[in-house]
Amino acid sequence: MTTGHNVHLLPQTDQLRAMHTIIRDKDCSRADFVFYARRVIRLLLEHGLNLLPFTEKKVTTPVGATYPGLEFASKICAVPVIRAGEAMESELRDVCPGIRLGKILIQRDKRTKQPHLYYKHLPDDIAQRHVLLLEPMLATAGSALAAVDVLAEAGVREDRIIMINFLSSPEGLRRIAAERPRLRIVTSAIEDQLNEHAFMIPGIGDFGDRFFGTI
Ligand code: PRP
Repeated sequence: MTTGHNVHLLPQTDQLRAMHTIIRDKDCSRADFVFYARRVIRLLLEHGLNLLPFTEKKVTTPVGATYPGLEFASKICAVPVIRAGEAMESELRDVCPGIRLGKILIQRDKRTKQPHLYYKHLPDDIAQRHVLLLEPMLATAGSALAAVDVLAEAGVREDRIIMINFLSSPEGLRRIAAERPRLRIVTSAIEDQLNEHAFMIPGIGDFGDRFFGTI
């Protein structure tokens, strides 16, 4: 599909495709799944951090010269959508050790596929922050949109939300573009389609189950 300007698809390098090949294999061990998923998550997070605003900052180097550099211009926080989103927390802590974390618990009804919000806890000043929304799977987009609604109710501007997403469907991306056009999404793959059970094809199965070993 043609991606809109708010969809940031990671460069489809041979290395990225090789990692996807390992973790999409139904016979992949849990250890390999976690290891390679984490490597891809690191790439997604680094890409997402690139989308934040920066301001100029000069520093003096050890040889007395001036380096005309940059620094983060904004406060950020991260909000994983439990449960699969929590798979991204440990990589996030590696690149942003002190980052504030909120939590949103949304589960998709196994039968209706509709998202249900069970719990939310967000930093008090989240309306002043840029938010990394950690949601690995975008199938119908119901869960992601429910999470964005929670952030919007808390005062977060739509254009300050960057969704860090592992796998997305064309249907989900189209729905996000229609309903939340200023939301930015970083993803590592766009799938062919959803099947009749709202699973992505070719897909990866249930990301949370495979990552946390609850199959
Ligand atoms: C899965 C997945 C996403 C959601 C995507 O969550 O982790 O949150 O479904 O589907 P959607 O775009 O159609 O809403 P699930 O509710 O199975 O919970 P989990 O995170 O515990 O796996």
